[in-house]
Amino acid sequence: MKKQHARFVFLLGGLMVGLMGGHVAQAEPSSQVVWDSATRHIVGSGNAVRGAANAEVCDSCHASAPGKSLRANFPRLAGQNPFYVYKQLMDYRANTRGHGVMQNFASQLTPAQMADLAAYYADQDLPGRPARQASPEVLRLVYRGDARRLIPPCAACHGRYGEGALVHVPALAGQEVSYFTTTMQAYKSGERANDLYSRMRYIAGQLTDGEIEALARYYAGTGR
Ligand code: HEC
Ligand code: HEC
Repeated sequence: MKKQHARFVFLLGGLMVGLMGGHVAQAEPSSQVVWDSATRHIVGSGNAVRGAANAEVCDSCHASAPGKSLRANFPRLAGQNPFYVYKQLMDYRANTRGHGVMQNFASQLTPAQMADLAAYYADQDLPGRPARQASPEVLRLVYRGDARRLIPPCAACHGRYGEGALVHVPALAGQEVSYFTTTMQAYKSGERANDLYSRMRYIAGQLTDGEIEALARYYAGTGR
């Protein structure tokens, strides 16, 4: 990433926290997960082999191995950032990310089991990569953002190839188009509100439906 971009993102990040901090402070916390050393230690101690032993039921909906059918609105987890997976499971359990089915599964897991499942998925390859070619509008949003709408580049947080980043920024590469679109619309409407500092809610709120769709296809690797 160019230095200039890094500074731009840093400034924007500060501005967004500044603008929305007051609002966030009064609202319910968007997540109860705090990345203190104890939590990092739990996720870092996740064991993929132990995770695999519990993953059969999860894989019936989340596996993306060739030949396995996957409902289009089920997120792919292969290669996903383990800190992100852990955080989502904790958020479902606490109902700060609402979803009946996932809340039910997450409530049956201990934090250590969540970390094991996160390690199991992190061990797998990402299911795909972003498209090699895309429209200039999509590439601009991904790599430059849009200063006019205060949108930082997606790649600044999600990585150059949509591979995700520390601490809990998810990978987007190879994600299902319809899941990607649905979850972005849920951020946009506020129905999904477990993102810290409302960053994704703000960004999704600035994007048009057409841009969301095009970004989903870009990250899924299917191009234009
Ligand atoms: C019956 C199908 C089903 C089963 C079984 C299932 N899930 Fe899910 N899972 C879903 C759906 C649908 C979503 C998307 C929900 C939403 O929009 O918030 C989801 C979301 C998730 C997410 C968030 C993904 C993201 O990209 O944000 C994680 C992590 C997850 N599930 C892990 C698990 C684990 C671990 C198990 C096993 C203990 C499991 N799931 C079992 C259907 C399922
Ligand atoms: C300031 C950093 C930042 C920027 C910039 C950013 N994101 Fe995110 N994004 C995040 C974080 C952190 C999360 C996870 C939030 C949570 O815990 O729910 C996330 C979550 C997502 C998700 C949900 C993934 C899933 O599996 O459910 C999608 C889709 C997404 N971002 C797309 C984008 C797109 C497209 C852009 C560019 C227009 C973008 N993001 C820009 C930090 C960022």
